[in-house]
Amino acid sequence: MFHFPLSINSDPSWFKPSYPQLKKRRKLNKTHCHLYNHSMSPVPITPIMVGHIVDVQELRRSKPMKIPTRFVRAMEERPTLETVAMPPPCEVPVVDLSKLMSGTKEVSNAEISQLAAACQEWGFFQVVNHSIDLGLLERIEDMAKDFFMLPLEEKQKYPMAPGTVQGYGQAFVFSEDQKLDWCNMFALGIEPKFIRDPKLWPKSPPEFSELVETYSMEVRKLCQSLLKYISTSLGLRGNVFEEMFGVAVQAIRMNYYPPCARPDLVLGLSPHSDGSALTVLQQGKGSSVGLQILKDNKWVPVHPIPNAFVINIGDTIEVLTNGKYKSVEHRAVTHKEKDRLSIVTFYAPSYDVELGPMAEFVDKSNPCKYRRYNHGEYSKHYVTNKLQGKKALEFAKVQIENLS
Ligand code: OGA
Ligand code: NI
Repeated sequence: MFHFPLSINSDPSWFKPSYPQLKKRRKLNKTHCHLYNHSMSPVPITPIMVGHIVDVQELRRSKPMKIPTRFVRAMEERPTLETVAMPPPCEVPVVDLSKLMSGTKEVSNAEISQLAAACQEWGFFQVVNHSIDLGLLERIEDMAKDFFMLPLEEKQKYPMAPGTVQGYGQAFVFSEDQKLDWCNMFALGIEPKFIRDPKLWPKSPPEFSELVETYSMEVRKLCQSLLKYISTSLGLRGNVFEEMFGVAVQAIRMNYYPPCARPDLVLGLSPHSDGSALTVLQQGKGSSVGLQILKDNKWVPVHPIPNAFVINIGDTIEVLTNGKYKSVEHRAVTHKEKDRLSIVTFYAPSYDVELGPMAEFVDKSNPCKYRRYNHGEYSKHYVTNKLQGKKALEFAKVQIENLS
């Protein structure tokens, strides 16, 4: 969901609002806030009325007899809980990074083919043997859990203002009648440094910032390495995406899904594709199964493999490959008794990058499906609209005119 982008535009002041702006936004937090125009003029352009957003963990604690209507989904949106019984091969594919990196051509080529199939047919895969220290994964998971278990007042020291996507709260809420996700989030912009809002980085526990920093550096290297293999799997030069992306934008979001008495009525996270190039998701150990992806029009659960990351193709790669590798729609569902934690990294091009389908993927039989656009503009579009399947990508779709 967060999709990814944290930012509203490539103007750094969006991320780092001046203190008076921030104060004003915080004051408006409870009921409404304003979006600012592209030049970050202090003049509000569109008021957003989001109503009072109740904190899902607090709600869970109060054990209401009924799920509040703001969380109850329309019939057609409700999750089918008996997940599709797919035969075993119909599981999200697994890619072994150590094989991709293997010195033996045969081994690495075979794994590249696996990767190509995973990206083309699923848009999702789990990566094993990624060589990131497992102790680090455990530490960030414990720390994220501890953060969500803090008293509400403590977490609210880092508020996510409506219409923004960094801090603690619910992102992508733009109206009072919009359904809410059964989820609490805490998100931070990581790279480049100008997207950081230091006021939103928790002071306690003291090792929080250092751990997020170390983890993010490791995941950044993983993204760069995966992108290299993804471009190879497309028959492109290994460094083509890195060169194109400039200083990549990176964000982290921790999602905490408390148990829900009526998982059949609510969604943990609304269906969406990610606005990133690549997303790396770590699922908490012992978490319930919660992530589902839309495959052949059915919601398929992603069963966590211990110590693996779930990787998915984001909208940027779909555009660059003219739809060869698609960003697949996904959502999260909740569980009656178990909570769930995910730690998600979004990796995307620099905001000033212009992109569109690469010439290699466009010909007579594959006409160009997307226009060229500025990635900062796309990010802005993404974060200023509610999550709604793959709707955000319509921004870039070429209108096929019916000339008849
Ligand atoms: C996301 C996302 C799924 C999950 O944060 O973009 O898709 O399982 N999360 O938390
Ligand atoms: Ni997502």
